[in-house]
Amino acid sequence: MKNVLVIDGGGRGNAIAHAFSESEKVDQVYVAPGNAGVYEYGGETVPLEEETKEDKIQEIIEKAEKLEIDLVIPGPEGWISAGIINEFRKNTDIPIMGPTKEAAFLETSKCDAKDYLNSIGVPVPKYENFENPEEAKEWARNFYEENPDKNLVPKADGIAAGKGAFVCDSLEESLSAIEKISGEEFNEEYDRAGERIEVEERLDGVETSFFAITDGETIKPFGTAKDYKRRYADPDHSFIDRYFDGINPNTGGLGAYSPEEEGDELTEKIMEQIARPTVKNLDEDYQGILHFVLMIMEEDGEKQPYVLEINVRDGDPEAQARLPRLESDIYDVYSSVVQQELEEESLQWSSDYYVAVCVFSGRPWEDGKPVEGYAGYPGEYYSKQPIFLRGQENERVGEEGIGEHIDGMVYHNGTDLHQGYMRSRGGRVLTFVNNDEDKEKALEKTYSDIQGEDGGVYFSYMDYREDIAQ
Ligand code: AMP
Ligand code: GLY
Repeated sequence: MKNVLVIDGGGRGNAIAHAFSESEKVDQVYVAPGNAGVYEYGGETVPLEEETKEDKIQEIIEKAEKLEIDLVIPGPEGWISAGIINEFRKNTDIPIMGPTKEAAFLETSKCDAKDYLNSIGVPVPKYENFENPEEAKEWARNFYEENPDKNLVPKADGIAAGKGAFVCDSLEESLSAIEKISGEEFNEEYDRAGERIEVEERLDGVETSFFAITDGETIKPFGTAKDYKRRYADPDHSFIDRYFDGINPNTGGLGAYSPEEEGDELTEKIMEQIARPTVKNLDEDYQGILHFVLMIMEEDGEKQPYVLEINVRDGDPEAQARLPRLESDIYDVYSSVVQQELEEESLQWSSDYYVAVCVFSGRPWEDGKPVEGYAGYPGEYYSKQPIFLRGQENERVGEEGIGEHIDGMVYHNGTDLHQGYMRSRGGRVLTFVNNDEDKEKALEKTYSDIQGEDGGVYFSYMDYREDIAQ
């Protein structure tokens, strides 16, 4: 029997750990640093004590050796771009699934990724890269003059917690987005992410998350999902002006469903035009998951996919909606990637729909009034709120977990156990997931776990989008 270590502090890590806990090959799943949701599926957390990412990577290697780990799966891109794959390969024999830090540019630099994709003929929106914000603004002005019916999406080159892209509706919004991205406040918060700016044409088609998995040689489709990134379902919501400078902010993702039907023909087109060339033209073998965020456009009666972005890892909350559908043993699949034997693996999926809805820390109120300056996630929010059982006066959730109190599944984005009781910790807090062969029923089940009269949980200022999968 095998031991697995997942490195992730959020909801995606819970979902990966849950999938491993269902494997017949796996004895114990560890999650570093994990959160209180890890216990819902019999996992163990591995606290990380070191300060910097570099030191933490060495700490993880030592702990993986001590725990006799047989396979390591890093979740977020931060570990990958910090070189966790390179360091494991250099310092231990413990297999780890993911790309090297050299390949991480596909996610960590929007400018370099678009240049790469463009140079190998992968379809991307019309775009331009800038170091000087004044030049970016000049380009935007010309663009709007020549294309009065179109719009732009200015993006920070680097990683900005999912908040570096601004989907604009006018020249004024585009200019203000460029201003914001190049501004001191933004660059101080996000490690100089906006020192280069990528500006691209806004495409209005059907957005979809398409996953592929590869061992470097073989590359296979690895499920689809639809992610809900914008904070507000209503693009005219009054809080957008009040709190977010008029631009409906992107979040890490507030819900997802899987599958998002592509059909065999479109799937093959995506593999042929996008996924295979992306992997084959890299300087080195890429191992792991590629998460393509695509816009599917209608052109001459045909569907044409364009790449908006690539992530070098699984999605959050896409993993929460997609991985429970995987019927193949995840240990076999991920091991086959590391051993470069993916060709022999067949990937089986449930035909059910899975609907995932994130609840997050919303706008706090005090004395019957909203607290000044606190918009709720992705703006400022209150954290460390106790999690209560719905309908049972002041009963708090303890070490038994939340799964006990709902019908479906729950993955924790941000929670901890404090003196035996569960609390929220962070912006996104919990992801509720249910499945059914009927999408409508799956979403009803998920919302009933969140809102249900009998059962369910809540915390102060809890909020969520009501339109996921609708
Ligand atoms: P990114 O930071 O590139 O991941 O973009 C975040 C989100 O912004 C995407 O998931 C889309 O919802 C949206 N987006 C990015 N680029 C475009 C585009 N060219 N057209 C329309 N929406 C976009
Ligand atoms: N849900 C978007 C992401 O994982 O990047």
